[in-house]
Amino acid sequence: MMILVTGGAGYIGSHTCVELLNEGHQVTVFDNFSNSQPEVLARVERITGKQMQLFEGDIRDRAALSAVLRQSDASAVIHFAGLKAVGESVVQPLAYYDHNVVGTIRLLEAMTEHGLKTLVFSSSATVYGDPQYLPLTEDHPLSATNPYGQTKLVIENMLRDLYTSDPTWHISILRYFNPVGAHASGLIGESPQGVPNNLMPFVAQVAAGKREFLNVWGRDYATPDGTGVRDYVHVVDLALGHLAALKHLQTGTQCVAVNLGTGVGYSVLDMVRAFEQASGKQVAFRILPRRPGDVAACYADPAHSKALLGWQAKRDLQTMCQDAWRWQSSNPNGYGN
Ligand code: NAD
Ligand code: WQD
Repeated sequence: MMILVTGGAGYIGSHTCVELLNEGHQVTVFDNFSNSQPEVLARVERITGKQMQLFEGDIRDRAALSAVLRQSDASAVIHFAGLKAVGESVVQPLAYYDHNVVGTIRLLEAMTEHGLKTLVFSSSATVYGDPQYLPLTEDHPLSATNPYGQTKLVIENMLRDLYTSDPTWHISILRYFNPVGAHASGLIGESPQGVPNNLMPFVAQVAAGKREFLNVWGRDYATPDGTGVRDYVHVVDLALGHLAALKHLQTGTQCVAVNLGTGVGYSVLDMVRAFEQASGKQVAFRILPRRPGDVAACYADPAHSKALLGWQAKRDLQTMCQDAWRWQSSNPNGYGN
């Protein structure tokens, strides 16, 4: 199949392109490189020995999307493109609604125009808001605690409304937990601009000596060691989840939401220790007050993804840290290297 991958040059998108190509699919990437670099595509081609088509463009540009759909003859779209920094979304909410919500509307319009009705969408566990119970099942009430989360929720609701209005669509909404790690080759990985927002890339930079210490935000949560607990999932497992979702979409029309997580929660200090072991480096840290908006614990019930998609995360914490360290240590400046 020819798959159009919006945001295919990004962290999760690039790892998904590798797995799509490995599986024998053809890939067209549509990306504006606002948070990525063209170099990543050369690396994907190096890993797989296969080539991709690239269209540089913005998902808010309907004409550009129509052109790429006309020229690529795609039979499905995996939609990663968008903005993803929670803190930034609080400061610049309109940019988040514009790129994420308006961009998705333009994409859905262009797909409708071309009679293309198969979509895998990148949602997030953030749509569960403050967990009312754990592990999180897909029928947990949905809410958002920041503008970024609101955009994911609006898009999810929009997709459900679209399917109600036209049940010939095939839509898979994937709710990622905390993606970490990198491809085992060490050639592609997460390349954050500036100070990393997320835990794992920050820890990796401390281990590499680029930052002095990790700020641990809160040690007074009701968790085993007092630090926040999350469901970290290897980005290659996550990528494979998209292939499983695509396969399931071939079985019939649907609009389903599925968790992609491991079902296991690790604390911040668990992550620090595992990273120290994988890297052989010390990760110095200091305890600071809680980060506003953080929850104590968040992890998936992975039963639905297993039953529906036949997908299960396989890579353990050690592998996540080893792969992240291989990427960090061989590309100290990310793709800017
Ligand atoms: P990323 O920033 O690495 O990748 C996003 C890609 O989209 C980048 O290459 C960027 O250049 C591109 N892009 C952004 N706005 C665009 C626009 N208007 N037009 C065209 N291209 C545009 O992010 P990621 O971590 O790979 O995340 C991919 C998707 O998964 C996002 O939708 C994100 O919200 C979602 N998600 C990410 C996480 C996470 O922790 N990484 C967790 C849950 C959900
Ligand atoms: C993990 C844990 C922090 C950094 C975010 C988004 C979510 C999703 C994934 C997109 C928490 C602690 C972190 C640091 C720390 N993204 N931490 N020091 O907050 O679970 O989820 O990314 O959809 O929407 O909210 O991930 O990696 O920021 O934090 O102590 O420097 O690490 O408090 O307990 P989070 P994270």
